[in-house]
Amino acid sequence: MSKVIVITGASSGIGQATAELLARQGNKMVLGARRESRLQEIVKKIKDANGEATYAVTDVTDLASVKKLAQTAMDQYGKIAVWMNNAGVMPQSTFIEGRVEDWNRMIDVNLRGVLNGIAAALPIMRKQASGHFINTSSVAGHATHPGGGVYSATKAGVLMISEALRQEEAQAQSNVRVTVVSPGAINTELVNSITDPNVKKGTAQYYDQVAISPDQIAKSIAFAINAPESASINEIVIRPSKQA
Ligand SMILES: NC(=O)c1ccc[n+]([C@@H]2O[C@H](COP(=O)([O-])OP(=O)(O)OC[C@H]3O[C@@H](n4cnc5c(N)ncnc54)[C@H](OP(=O)(O)O)[C@@H]3O)[C@@H](O)[C@H]2O)c1
Repeated sequence: MSKVIVITGASSGIGQATAELLARQGNKMVLGARRESRLQEIVKKIKDANGEATYAVTDVTDLASVKKLAQTAMDQYGKIAVWMNNAGVMPQSTFIEGRVEDWNRMIDVNLRGVLNGIAAALPIMRKQASGHFINTSSVAGHATHPGGGVYSATKAGVLMISEALRQEEAQAQSNVRVTVVSPGAINTELVNSITDPNVKKGTAQYYDQVAISPDQIAKSIAFAINAPESASINEIVIRPSKQA
């Protein structure tokens, strides 16, 4: 069945792969991110393959911008079946480095961005009496390591926000489903968001050894979306088989 699906962070990596797969499955895609030229290219690629897509330049740290993304979906297609809060950054470093701007950026994008998505889309889903949030956490939301404290805190926050949302919507009998996807090392542009040169080098080397394609995450997300409406797939953890 064709669904209207909004994805933040759709200009590369997991968001892009998911948008392209779901478009191939016949869904109507509404893409948000900051880099307009990338969004235009992806929409063109989808349309050239006879798919359906539109975009709105979106900064998830700004509630008004996120509401504009939701409005784009409503204006164009009159409904939001799925909202994927996927935009994220991972500028990891140890606390002694004192990279406070990076800490704030992770909180703003990874955490506040998800809350802005919920604020924009949940009232619409309640009115429709149906909807589905897909929130991108990480295996780093389940465990941490030196240098990973703030990133893990934001991703563990996504887990808790998602679980409370799931419980609230189940209690309200609203037919709004919630799925958290927690990927391991995936070959995307995420490593580029690391500002500490040593951490960036080490992470890039590790990713070269173990990371898998974002297409594999896209398939898991499609599985959750395509499950019968009465079943809510709440959590997916998916790592490369080689990742310890
Ligand atoms: N790759 C991994 O190993 C991995 C593992 C676990 C979890 N994740 C999570 O997966 C999600 C997607 O990341 P990815 O791996 O696909 O990395 P990516 O290729 O770097 O994609 C990140 C996306 O987030 C967008 N973004 C960043 N800041 C934004 C902002 N302020 N407003 C709107 N969009 C913003 C970027 O677009 P613009 O720059 O155009 O705005 C881009 O589309 C993130 O939440 C990440 O934490 C990734």
